[in-house]
Amino acid sequence: MTKPLDGIRIIDFTHVQAGPACTQLLAWYGADVIKVERPGAGDVTRSQLRDIPGADALYFTMLNGNKRSLTLDTKTPEGKEVLEKMIKTSDVMVENFGPGALDRMGFSWKRIQELNPKMIMASVKGFSDGHSYEDLKVYENVAQCAGGAASTTGFWDGPPTVSAAALGDSNTGMHLAIGILTALMQREKTGRGQKVSCSMQDAVLNLCRVKLRDQQRLERVGVMQEYPQYPNGEFGDAVPRAGNASGGGQPGWIVKCKGWEKDPNAYMYVIVQAPVWEAVCKVIGREDWITDVRFASPMARLPHLMEIFAEIEKWTMTMTKFEVMDILNQYDIPCGPILSMKEIAEEPALRATGTVVEVDHPIRGKYLTVGNPIKMSDSPTEVTRSPLLGEHTDEILSELGYSTDDLIALRHDKVI
Ligand code: COA
Repeated sequence: MTKPLDGIRIIDFTHVQAGPACTQLLAWYGADVIKVERPGAGDVTRSQLRDIPGADALYFTMLNGNKRSLTLDTKTPEGKEVLEKMIKTSDVMVENFGPGALDRMGFSWKRIQELNPKMIMASVKGFSDGHSYEDLKVYENVAQCAGGAASTTGFWDGPPTVSAAALGDSNTGMHLAIGILTALMQREKTGRGQKVSCSMQDAVLNLCRVKLRDQQRLERVGVMQEYPQYPNGEFGDAVPRAGNASGGGQPGWIVKCKGWEKDPNAYMYVIVQAPVWEAVCKVIGREDWITDVRFASPMARLPHLMEIFAEIEKWTMTMTKFEVMDILNQYDIPCGPILSMKEIAEEPALRATGTVVEVDHPIRGKYLTVGNPIKMSDSPTEVTRSPLLGEHTDEILSELGYSTDDLIALRHDKVI
């Protein structure tokens, strides 16, 4: 079966997480992704947080599946020559070096266009071009702070909190992939490549859109009725942290379940959606609330949300989260058990859908990775293992026309 990106060759000049997440997705869709790595070292994540001595770390293996690896010192004249050949024969180049690194290497956007006007050049940086912080090196949590996620995450009486979700890294990579695919479609019409840029700050802010909505509401109205601060707490001049509130017309909260004293994940998210309010009252044994004017409508309930969730919690604490789930589902009451990573790793349904995949690796053996979250009916994803450092160097250089003697010389000079 053909893959959507069959025939698309990508120079993968990425490292750590943001860039590799993008190129891994494109590799899953069939692109030939060639990871260009420094000889002897490679992507820093190969050795970061190692759990098996001598084996590529999971940090690397889980972000670099389905790729080929070429070692190449692109700061040497011979290495630059190889890279130029690759640029002339590739469709996309993706990088997430610190600002200016590619220019310093001699591969500015201008130079790349000269070499291949059809090239799509995609970059992740911490901040957008033109931003006063454009020259900064940026990691995940810096982006979460700069993009508005940290100031709006956590509890009102605690400090700003970063999310475990890689909003700055993998999320930016996904944004970049959308840009690359769109540029490939535009190239079909124009015959020209283009530069695709995505900053981590922007990608985080894009996911915090509703908080910028709330900022403007706060400035106009002074309070936000769906926030836990309403009606008794204080609102300042910026969107406050709202704990586990879900906001909007579907208030939700995390409540304890049986065993919470010992199990940090014996919790349940429960949403008190308006159409199932009566069912909620019946299930928790508070039929009296059905006719109580204080709870008669979603608006009436807003000032009493904490009281409502406290009452729901009295009920959920008598059962395990999965028992709560089974009962609430019978009434279509939206809810979700708090799943630990252990539960996710062992969950048969996620294995069945191809979302958690077991891959075999020649050095580390079997490991779990997250498969393609985007499922397509004509393009099933087959996840394969990450490449060893330089595993495909000879193969790729032969494809570019280098002879065995050339390879020996390049290896001797430590270019590959
Ligand atoms: N051959 C020779 N040199 C190579 C090379 C190769 N194959 N691959 C990389 N290099 C060099 C680069 O040219 C650069 O050299 P220079 O700084 O002398 O010009 C250097 O290696 C890499 O630098 P940099 O990307 O800045 O690495 P770092 O470890 O100092 O910083 C980041 C890491 C992530 C902070 C930085 O890359 C960054 O800010 N990236 C953009 C934002 C981003 O993606 N952050 C999230 C990462 S998940």
